[in-house]
Amino acid sequence: MSILKIVTYPNPVLAKKAKAVAKVIPEIKKLIKDMLETMYKAPGVGLAAPQVGRSIRLIVIDIGEGPIALINPKVTAKHGEQTLVEGCLSLPGIEAPVKRASNVTVTGLNEKGKKVNYDAEGLLATVFQHEIDHLDGIVCIDRVADPSLIKHVVFDKEPKEERI
Ligand code: NI
Repeated sequence: MSILKIVTYPNPVLAKKAKAVAKVIPEIKKLIKDMLETMYKAPGVGLAAPQVGRSIRLIVIDIGEGPIALINPKVTAKHGEQTLVEGCLSLPGIEAPVKRASNVTVTGLNEKGKKVNYDAEGLLATVFQHEIDHLDGIVCIDRVADPSLIKHVVFDKEPKEERI
């Protein structure tokens, strides 16, 4: 396994719509392992392939309940509303409150190429939406209606476990 370089805003790969993964080949399985290792090391609770310079539809997440890898993820249902303060591994030193659905159903393929579903709420729901946004070229500050709510923080002095 290896630690990958996390690209930061405004790298153009973060603004691109990522391509679907056609087949879960060994290279994708290796990328999943490397992305998880990179996410844990950062540390963060979610990472999307464009954040490591790969414009493909793949995300990894672990909010402390075990690793999730999802290929070609899609939100199939959502309801409710919540606003959580988000930090992003590709936007170091930035935090912003982002309004998203509080409950989402997400479907995709796991690392074995098998179709899986997740019903997520709270932090996990936000992390899924944040990561899937990365696949569509959207970063969290794009979703902040009032730019005065974007805060500049020194991450080294903040708890880092919720960067996504
Ligand atoms: Ni992010």
